Amino acid sequence: MSTFQTLPGFRDFYPEDFARRHHVFRLWRQSASAFGFSEYDAPVLESLELYKAKSGDEIEAQLFSFTDKGGRDVALRPEMTPTVCRMVGARANALKRPIRWFSIAEFYRYERMQKGRGRCFSQLNADIFGEPGPEAEIELIALLVQCLCAFGLREEDFFVRLSDRNLWYYYLEALGLDESRTRAVLAAIDKYEKSGDAAFDGYAEKFGPLEAGLKEKILGFLQIKSLPAIEHAVAALGVDRLAARLADWRKLIDGLGAMGLSRFVEVDLGVVRGLAYYTGFVFEAFDRKGELRALAGGGRYDDLVAKLGGPALPAVGFAIGDMTFSLLLEQRGLMPTLVFAPDVYCVIGGVPERQAAFGDIHALRAGGFRVDYPLKEVAFGKQFKTAAESGAKLALIYGSDELARGVVKVRDLEQRTEMDVPRADLIATVRDFFSAG
Ligand code: HAM
Repeated sequence: MSTFQTLPGFRDFYPEDFARRHHVFRLWRQSASAFGFSEYDAPVLESLELYKAKSGDEIEAQLFSFTDKGGRDVALRPEMTPTVCRMVGARANALKRPIRWFSIAEFYRYERMQKGRGRCFSQLNADIFGEPGPEAEIELIALLVQCLCAFGLREEDFFVRLSDRNLWYYYLEALGLDESRTRAVLAAIDKYEKSGDAAFDGYAEKFGPLEAGLKEKILGFLQIKSLPAIEHAVAALGVDRLAARLADWRKLIDGLGAMGLSRFVEVDLGVVRGLAYYTGFVFEAFDRKGELRALAGGGRYDDLVAKLGGPALPAVGFAIGDMTFSLLLEQRGLMPTLVFAPDVYCVIGGVPERQAAFGDIHALRAGGFRVDYPLKEVAFGKQFKTAAESGAKLALIYGSDELARGVVKVRDLEQRTEMDVPRADLIATVRDFFSAG
């Protein structure tokens, strides 16, 4: 056993793991491209200041941060949102709107380790800038659903919980809470599912215990699970802003319905999201069985670009993490077993045959075929065995007899048929074989 191991919460990607991750990234990338998103990237190391007081206390406490040799306070990125706001903000006037960007990248958080959570993980981030209305949320929730369905997951496997911080703000204001109390209540709601009543301890420390009648109303609102129930609760209050917000809700729910996605989306005011910058609709994806931590999370953050020095620019987005997502695919048997088979395996006689084979091997590889052969001279029989075990579709046989006749024996390893092909026609024959499927 090696003396050195990965740091706790970090992962090595051996070829089988890498292939699985590649499969996930490939389908995410394909989905984001189909929705018209453009890919970007950025440095993993950022100024610490970018996250201070912007991402929220929880993420700030989990930062991998240090002072670099130039005396700068820096941090490994724990998320992409502040970075993408910085990038878009710097070029906001030159970019055609709506700006639809995505990235697939690695992030670092010093988290307590648990199933589906590590200290280094990947996310697909997708964000839309410049669109204030719920049309952007429709696009993003549709993309989120597609990023899961692309792997064969269905409505019985996962769902998206949809909520609204605006609604909460307006509701708590109508109940008479000021801004700082509202923030403390939202922090409690974020923890309520996990911690129950203890979630309100933080509020009580700052402001004293919540008055019983008020708490009851808040817990009632938190349990709302449908648009008609929101409409009912809001109608009773008679607050104009709340009523106006319902028009956005209707647009969003109808748009998702028209895309055929209602079965994936559930209204759930118990979700408020822990990150500090969210301003409007927020959403999270979970497995239906409730066995895993969140698969994805996102929402609207209309103030963050301006807070980071850019112009006022509405924004909404989400991120899916690779860890819980891969666990879910494996649980459902949807993570394919990926094989590293060559297309062609060459069985080669002696030294002169090897000389002849090398030219063809290089030409085939340059033509995009995966070609393998024994690096050292090996007995013919053993080579046939390796060819059969390799998973290759074709074996090319370079024996002394074939060489003398100017041909290569091409064996179809599945059909167990073979034919002699003149050397000059070999590349075309292999190409025809694979393009015929
Ligand atoms: P988040 O909820 O912190 O949101 O993370 C999104 C997803 O990343 C989570 O649902 C989870 O799958 C994954 N994730 C987060 N932390 C870990 C971890 N320690 N280990 C494994 N997976 C993890 C954000 O990051 C927002 N920036 C998303 C966003 C984009 N909002 C707007 N645009």
